[in-house]
Amino acid sequence: MITSFRERLEEASKSHKSRLVLALDLNIEEGLLESALHLIEQIGCELAAVKINYHLILPLALTDIRRVVEAAHRKGLQTIADLKLNDISSTNLTVVRLLYEAGFDALIANPIVGYRNALQPMIEEAHKRGMGVILLTYMSHRGATEGYGLKIKSRSGSVKPLYRLFAERALKWGADGLIVGATRPSIIKEVAALTSNRLPIFSPGVGVQGGSALDALKAGASYLIVGRSIIDSPDRIAEARRLREWSWLVC
Ligand code: XMP
Repeated sequence: MITSFRERLEEASKSHKSRLVLALDLNIEEGLLESALHLIEQIGCELAAVKINYHLILPLALTDIRRVVEAAHRKGLQTIADLKLNDISSTNLTVVRLLYEAGFDALIANPIVGYRNALQPMIEEAHKRGMGVILLTYMSHRGATEGYGLKIKSRSGSVKPLYRLFAERALKWGADGLIVGATRPSIIKEVAALTSNRLPIFSPGVGVQGGSALDALKAGASYLIVGRSIIDSPDRIAEARRLREWSWLVC
């Protein structure tokens, strides 16, 4: 029987007592494959999952990425492809199949592209393969207000911010999680309440972008996504351990 991404993530999280997702955004001047494998070996037991984005996927291509994904799996971790997918279904479906063949457990997509002929077939295909789909809801960077914070008016005349619509739709569309930046704890709280805590909230933007891990967790984030605070730390193991302990104590 195929287990779902959410079940596997919960299992990984419990077994490592961690709600920490490493953003594996290594410096592109490093020997990427070796560095990625080494870092997973070093701090894998502090994590629940690894998120891999363009930093690695473009230079390594999926053949080498598969080795990184397999190393994460050997450590009992889930793997998330962060391409913020944003296309029509024919392209989205091809990407889902390629990511599945590379071993990924979940992917991040952009809800702005809509459901019909875009996210619907992609979510169905991902679920058929036991993969999860996590939808952007409010990004962590400052300019996110220019998009996710826009007020929209429905046909009935009611006005609401775009991120609230995205959160409601994520539930309706059968997504497996939401992304809300740690830089916006009040919005994490609002989205957690709006979705009655039925979807895990993944929160990037801790540390370098100014978000507080503790504030995000207290507001209702289920998982912290952290890259540079760990990767650029003089002691990556200690930093990952510190964040793991917080993530587990506060959640
Ligand atoms: P840092 O180094 O700031 O890295 O800890 C954050 C990681 O998370 C990604 N990121 C986001 N991904 N929605 C996302 O899907 C967001 O709002 C968001 N903000 C940051 C970023 O690509 C990096 O990998």
